[in-house]
Amino acid sequence: MQKKDIIQDPAYGNKAEAFEAFDDIPTNPHLGNTIGDVIHRRYGRRDVLRGALGVTATTALFGTSALVAPKTAQAATAADSRYRFDELQWGNDASHHIADGYNADILVRWGDPITADAPEFDVMNQTPEAQSQQFGYNNDYVGFAEIEPGRGMLCVNHEYTNEEVMFPGLGRQDRAGFEGMTEDLVNIEMAAHGGSVFEIQKDATGKWSINRNNPANRRITANTPMTFDGPAAGHPRLRTSADPAGMTVLGTINNCAGGMTPWGTYLMAEENFHGYFWSDKLDADGKVDVSEQPEGEKMARYGVPGRWYAWGQYHDRFNIDKEPNEPNRFGYIVEVDPMNPNAMPIKHTALGRFRHEGAETTVASDGRLVIYSGDDNRFDYQYKWVSAEPVTEANSHFGSSLLSEGTLFVARFNDDGTIDWLPLVHGEGPLTAENGFDSQADIAIDTRLAADALGATPMDRPEDAQPGPDGTAYLMLTNNSRRKLDQVDAANPRPESNFGHIIEIKEEGQNHSATRGTWSILVLCGDPTIEEVGAMWNPETSENGWFSSPDNCAFDASGRLWISTDQGSGWGRTGKSDGLYALETEGDLRGHSKLFFRCPVGGELCGPYFADESRTLFLAVQHPGTDGTRDLKGFERDSTFEDPATRWPDFDDAMPPRPSVVVVTKQNGGVIAV
Ligand code: FEO
Ligand code: CA
Ligand code: CA
Repeated sequence: MQKKDIIQDPAYGNKAEAFEAFDDIPTNPHLGNTIGDVIHRRYGRRDVLRGALGVTATTALFGTSALVAPKTAQAATAADSRYRFDELQWGNDASHHIADGYNADILVRWGDPITADAPEFDVMNQTPEAQSQQFGYNNDYVGFAEIEPGRGMLCVNHEYTNEEVMFPGLGRQDRAGFEGMTEDLVNIEMAAHGGSVFEIQKDATGKWSINRNNPANRRITANTPMTFDGPAAGHPRLRTSADPAGMTVLGTINNCAGGMTPWGTYLMAEENFHGYFWSDKLDADGKVDVSEQPEGEKMARYGVPGRWYAWGQYHDRFNIDKEPNEPNRFGYIVEVDPMNPNAMPIKHTALGRFRHEGAETTVASDGRLVIYSGDDNRFDYQYKWVSAEPVTEANSHFGSSLLSEGTLFVARFNDDGTIDWLPLVHGEGPLTAENGFDSQADIAIDTRLAADALGATPMDRPEDAQPGPDGTAYLMLTNNSRRKLDQVDAANPRPESNFGHIIEIKEEGQNHSATRGTWSILVLCGDPTIEEVGAMWNPETSENGWFSSPDNCAFDASGRLWISTDQGSGWGRTGKSDGLYALETEGDLRGHSKLFFRCPVGGELCGPYFADESRTLFLAVQHPGTDGTRDLKGFERDSTFEDPATRWPDFDDAMPPRPSVVVVTKQNGGVIAV
C-alpha cells in the first residue's frame, strides 16, 4: 500500500497509527545487503518456518551467552530481582497505574502555562500565541538539568499533534484532505511542536511543581530561529530564499527522543521530518511525484514529502515545489542551552541527517564523547558519533566542538556476533565524488545514502539506544512487520516481527568509542506462551512482565535498565497498555522483566528519565486515548475531541485527553526500586 492510501484508509484509526503504518514502508532500496544468506547457509527454510530461528540460530551463531541463562537448581528466582518492587498487574483501562508504594503524579499537561506571561489554557479558544507559551503536545523525551538538589530545568520534546483530539469539531484531517484546517489551526500545531524548557522544584513534602517565574523558561517551536554548525552549515544545499546564507532555519519538528550532554545541554532529535513537507505535484494515481525534482531520488530515500500535515499550504517553506532545499534543513540533532533563553539552538549537522530517534551521550573510557542514535525506519541503521577530542572542562559547553569535530559511524552486525562501526568519512571507501558525495557536507545531508554505500545492516526500526556501564549499549528494535523470511539475519532474526527485540552491544575494551565490539540479543519480545511469536525471556518472567515494542530506555543511578514501550495501534495484539518495565541485564535473571507503570489506553510511554539520585522518575504519556481504540472493549471506535476513549488525566467532560508528564516518587521518599 502506498502511504497516501494508508493515511486515507479508515482502517488506521488516527494519525499516530498512520505514522506507524507509513514507517512500515521501507525507503531503503539496498536490502540486498542483509546477511540473511548466512542464516540460510546454516539453517534450512524448514527450521525458520518452525519458528526455531530465534533460539536455534542465535544459539549456534553466538553460543548460549547470547541467550538468557537456563534455569538451574541454584538459579535465581524472580524474588531475587535487583529491582525491589511488587510488579504491577498488566491490563488496559482509562487511567495510569503504578506499582504499590509509589506515587505517580501529573506534573504538567498539554496547554499548561510554563512562562510567567502565559495565559491559562482555554481548550475551546486556542491561539498560536497562547500555545507558544504553554506546554506543547505529545510529550516524548524528558531530560533534567539540575541547578541544585531539588531544583532544575525540565526539558521535554513535543513530537507531533493529533488534531482530532486537539481541536473541537475537526476529526482526522489528513484523511479528509485537510478540509477543516485553517492557517490559524496550522499555526497552533506549529506552536505545539518542538520542546519545553522550564524550572521545576521539589517542596518539603517531596512534591514537584513548575516555577513559571524563572526567566529561562521557554518554548522551542516550529518557528524558533536556530543555526547550523558542522560540515553542512552554509552549504548551497541548505540555502533557501528566506536564508540565502544557509545558516538560519526556523524551528525543529517531530522531536522524538533526545539526550542530555555531560555539560547539561539538551539534545532534541528530529525524527519524522519528512511528514511535514508538501507538494502539489501528484502523478496519475494521486501519489507524490518527485521525478522532476533535482534531488528527487534523495528525497525518496527520506520519504520526502510525506504530506502528513497541511503546513505547506500556508507556509511556502514546507512546500518542496517552492523551497526544494528546506527538507535538507531538518533531520538533525538540535542542541539547546536550558539555562540561557537567549542562546539560539544549534542543529549539529556532523551527527548526520536521518530520522533520529534519540541522542544519548556517554563519555568513553578514552575520554571522548560518544552519542548513540538510531534511524527509526524499517530497514534503517544504527549510528554512533565519536568526538575527535576528549571531553575537558574547557570544551564542556553549549555549542562545543565535541559535536562538530569527530566521526559518525554506522553499524554492521556480523554473523559471528561481532559488530563493526563503519566510518562515514568523505574520501574513504565508496564515499567519493564519483559516487555522488562531493564533500563531508553531502555525507552529513545524505547520511542514509552514505550508510547504504558502506553496507550497514538494515535493522528492525532502531528506536532509542542507551549507552550503559562498562562499554555496553542497548538498542531498542521496536518491530518490523515487513521483514520477509529471506531478509532475516542474525541481528534481526524474526520475519514479520510485530513485537521487536533488544540488542546488547559490548564495545571492545569496554570503550564506547571503539570501532569494534560484540553483540547479542537480550530479549526477543512478545508473548512467550505463544510458540509462533518466538519470544525469548528469562523463564522467571511472569505474564505481567513480558512486553512488546520497546521504544525508549534509561539507566537508573544503580546502573539498572528500564524500558518503555510503544505498540502503537498494535496493543490489541497483546491486550496490554504500554508501560515501563524493569529489565535485568546481568546474572541468572538476565532477560527477566517486571512491569512498574502502565499508561492509560491508547497512549505510548516516553521518557523515562531518572533524576534526584533516582529518587525521582519522569515519565511522558504521549497521545493518551488515541492508538488502537477500536480494540478497546466497550468503546470500539476512533477517538475524537468530543468522544475520546479516555479523558485522562483530568477526567473532565469539558476536556479532551491531554499528553502529560508524570512524576514518580516513592511514598515516604527514597530511591526507586531499592
Ligand atoms: Fe517517535 Fe521512533 O518514535
Ligand atoms: Ca520513540
Ligand atoms: Ca514511538
